Amino acid sequence: MTPPIEGFSKLSKEEKIDWIAARFTDNSEETKKTLKRYWNQDKQLQQLHDEFIENTISNYYLPLGIAPNFLINGKVYAIPMAIEESSVVAAASKAAKFWLERGGFKAEVLGTEKIGQVHFTYAGEADQLEAFAGRVIPIMKKDVADLTAKMEKRGGGVRSIELRDKRMELEDYFQLHCTFETADAMGANFINSCLEQFAQTLEREAKNDPQIEEDKLEVIMSILSNYVPNCRVRAEVSCKIEELDEHDNISPEQFAEKMVQAVAIAKAEPYRAVTHNKGIMNGIDSVVLATGNDFRAVEAGIHAYASKDGSYTSLTHASIENGIFRFWIEIPLALGTVGGLTGLHPMVRLSLDILQKPSAKELMQIAAVAGLAQNFAALRSLVTTGIQQGHMKMHLLNILNQLKASTPEKTAIVQLFRDRQVTHRAVAEALEKLRSAS
Ligand code: MEV
Repeated sequence: MTPPIEGFSKLSKEEKIDWIAARFTDNSEETKKTLKRYWNQDKQLQQLHDEFIENTISNYYLPLGIAPNFLINGKVYAIPMAIEESSVVAAASKAAKFWLERGGFKAEVLGTEKIGQVHFTYAGEADQLEAFAGRVIPIMKKDVADLTAKMEKRGGGVRSIELRDKRMELEDYFQLHCTFETADAMGANFINSCLEQFAQTLEREAKNDPQIEEDKLEVIMSILSNYVPNCRVRAEVSCKIEELDEHDNISPEQFAEKMVQAVAIAKAEPYRAVTHNKGIMNGIDSVVLATGNDFRAVEAGIHAYASKDGSYTSLTHASIENGIFRFWIEIPLALGTVGGLTGLHPMVRLSLDILQKPSAKELMQIAAVAGLAQNFAALRSLVTTGIQQGHMKMHLLNILNQLKASTPEKTAIVQLFRDRQVTHRAVAEALEKLRSAS
């Protein structure tokens, strides 16, 4: 067994690599070579990446793709997407083109409220605590004035602080449930700094207040919530049913009905809903990643929202009314276009430039549209040809790379499989044939 190491973070980058390569890999020289191949030649840029996290030994690449022709609220966007899954950008581009010719996407931000909480226990009388909260909340607001001054100039700040009695859930448990507006920032640091100050004020004032039993109050923790049901965005597409006319073997009416049924199944059946929503997250996560936002926060919040009525369900909706097919999504999304990585990571800055420097609200709309487009593309394939046809076509290059095909071999095989079904075996056989022929 490899013994644990003391002080790993204090080793130099080279020493860390040597240790990892020697202890955990079969070919230490090959490991070092692989790690270093991914270092950036630009030393300053590499240092920037090294300093994003602790114990950096190399970079981990994801492709950055572009899905063009997204018409959103009358403006055309080319959407940058960071993702490894081969068919996602192609699917988004196809859906974008389809809706470009049918009026495009409409998107609307329904709210931008963020939430944070100070969790604490109080083992005394609840009405004493309530009266104390009435006295202390205005002091809390004053105590964060320095922290909020800049945010207030940008239209944000602390919106409310409310004492909540949670003793039905947990013994002696209370919280300060706080709401914030954070303008174009995602706002995590701002919110957490305010909350920690609220907690300090709560403890300090409890000591000074003769009406409160100070030793019965204990702050447990202060942290923002990634569940933001009032920071929500809606995106929609619609068209006359007869405009859903892109398929040879299915009528527009049948197509519309199957799409509605596919959504109904995802609403009724959690096993399907998870996969359905995973497809939506293919679109959302890749925009969130490309723009330097926190995809784990977004994922956690969106999936909580998908279960808000007690069982996990579809994030998208579809209807047919008066000859109109309508398809829409409503999701919570806390995104930022300033702060965090946005000013630091050159690719993030570039992605935001490609999106024409959106506000946080605009980025919420773009990400929601990417999710809706992805779901439309997935369902469209699922209810017509199945997904494997398109998916395997996009996966063809991965298979060829696995088989170490040369560039001319790739060109020949891609040409060959234009109208053939792609399977790993069929591609391997075709490549072997090609090689033995030459
Ligand atoms: C694959 O990444 C996503 C899909 O499975 C989504 C879906 O089934 O709706 C195709």
